[in-house]
Amino acid sequence: MSIKTRFLLSYIAVMLIAILLFLAAGFLFSFAVTGDVRAIEHFYKKSYVQKPLTSAEESAFLDLKLLAKRSPEQLLDREQLQKIEAPTIEIAVRKGQHIIYTSKADYERRLLAHLPGFEATNINTRDTIMLDNAFYTYVKFDFYFSDQTEGSIFVLRKVSSYTELTRELLPILLILLFVIFMLIIGLLNYVVSRSIVKPISSLKEGAERIKSGDLDFEIVTQSKDEIGQLNRAFEEMRIKLKESVQLQLQYEENRKELLSNISHDLKTPITAIIGYVEGIKDGVANTEEKMAKYLTTIHTKAKDMDVLIDELFLFSKLDLKKVPFTMETIDLQQYMRDFVEEVNLDLVARDIQLQYRPLSSSLYVKADRDKLRRVLTNLVNNSAKYMDKQHKQITITLYEKADEVVVEVKDNGAGIEATALPHIFDRFYRAEKSRNSETGGSGLGLAIAKQIVLGMSGTIWATSELTKGTSLFISLNKGDNE
Ligand SMILES: Nc1ncnc2c1ncn2[C@@H]1O[C@H](COP(=O)(O)OP(=O)(O)OP(=O)(O)O)[C@@H](O)[C@H]1O
Ligand SMILES: [Mg+2]
Repeated sequence: MSIKTRFLLSYIAVMLIAILLFLAAGFLFSFAVTGDVRAIEHFYKKSYVQKPLTSAEESAFLDLKLLAKRSPEQLLDREQLQKIEAPTIEIAVRKGQHIIYTSKADYERRLLAHLPGFEATNINTRDTIMLDNAFYTYVKFDFYFSDQTEGSIFVLRKVSSYTELTRELLPILLILLFVIFMLIIGLLNYVVSRSIVKPISSLKEGAERIKSGDLDFEIVTQSKDEIGQLNRAFEEMRIKLKESVQLQLQYEENRKELLSNISHDLKTPITAIIGYVEGIKDGVANTEEKMAKYLTTIHTKAKDMDVLIDELFLFSKLDLKKVPFTMETIDLQQYMRDFVEEVNLDLVARDIQLQYRPLSSSLYVKADRDKLRRVLTNLVNNSAKYMDKQHKQITITLYEKADEVVVEVKDNGAGIEATALPHIFDRFYRAEKSRNSETGGSGLGLAIAKQIVLGMSGTIWATSELTKGTSLFISLNKGDNE
């Protein structure tokens, strides 16, 4: 059974029970007050007792009472009585056990049976009687005729009869009740389905979409109740799931790219080597000079492959966190001075000017000496490799921050395109897509540098302006000099 049906049935049940209880309570209440099982019937009767006389009735009653007190014999005079009578009033006069006058002549007997008895004290003068399924309220006055017969005058007024009232009102009441009942059920159903069923069904729809692999939708909720919280949690789950699926796809894409790049980078030198070896075999290298050239090329290609395989191996070990780091506290000023001295020889040979800007005080960082050298060498090599200016300039600057020291390697080379900049730390990424071997490189240099810097708990980032130059930054944690 659906929640909606369950709600609907429970409303109906609650409404019916409420109505039944209300009726039972009403019945019990009037029973408790009156002590009579037929109290419901009396309920109407009693309520009419309270109704006061109309002014016409009152004046007619007073006239009759005056007559009864002063000259009761005149009450035997029909004409006299008819004068007092008015259209809405019924008069009855009783003498002894006989009704001697009524406005309507045909019901003296029945009336006599229902009228209350004589009471000289005139205490209970007002009440209701039921006659021919109709209620009459009456006012009574008891007196003695001159012959000492007991006499009573009644002024009667017909009120809606119990059955008539029931017959008139009950269908309307029932219809009204039914309409209210339906309206309330409809309203409750609308409110509940809006606040419960609708969000649940949108949740269900969402779950089904996820099942079928669709994660590109949104579950919107405004409400703060439990169901709203559930929907929000579900939405968070969807976002997380989508992120993880995207990450997975990204990994998959990377893996594919990695494989294709490795194949390409290994295939190129291998093909060249095979070509040259076949050339030698076929006797193409028929002079010593040619032979030497062929062998040099084969040697270079084989060494390229060796370097590439080494780098790949190192990168994969770093990626798998299988390379141990020997962290030491290094005097960075001293370390950088040595490094600059070392690389400067090579750079001077390549007509590149290297400027070093140290800090005045000594700085200690935590790092792995050899691995840091590898990173710095790579950065300087890149700067030299992607240099396209007449005046070639590389600047190494140190900056001190609160907890870290930043090393900047800046060049005035070709620069990197803004779209390429976020990818330069990706493995095998090379800004120029041709992957030509003139500028050399596999695109692993910065990927390895990043792994190493991360392994030393540092960070690495780059800024660049196309045609103007590039800056690579490494930040390292400060260390204490023991
Ligand atoms: N200083 C720089 N100036 C201009 N472009 C740079 C600079 N440093 C890096 N790049 C760009 O970033 C890419 C990635 O650099 P990375 O060092 O990872 O690879 P590579 O130098 O091409 O190859 P490898 O270092 O493995 O020999 C380079 O191909 C180059 O396009
Ligand atoms: Mg490089």
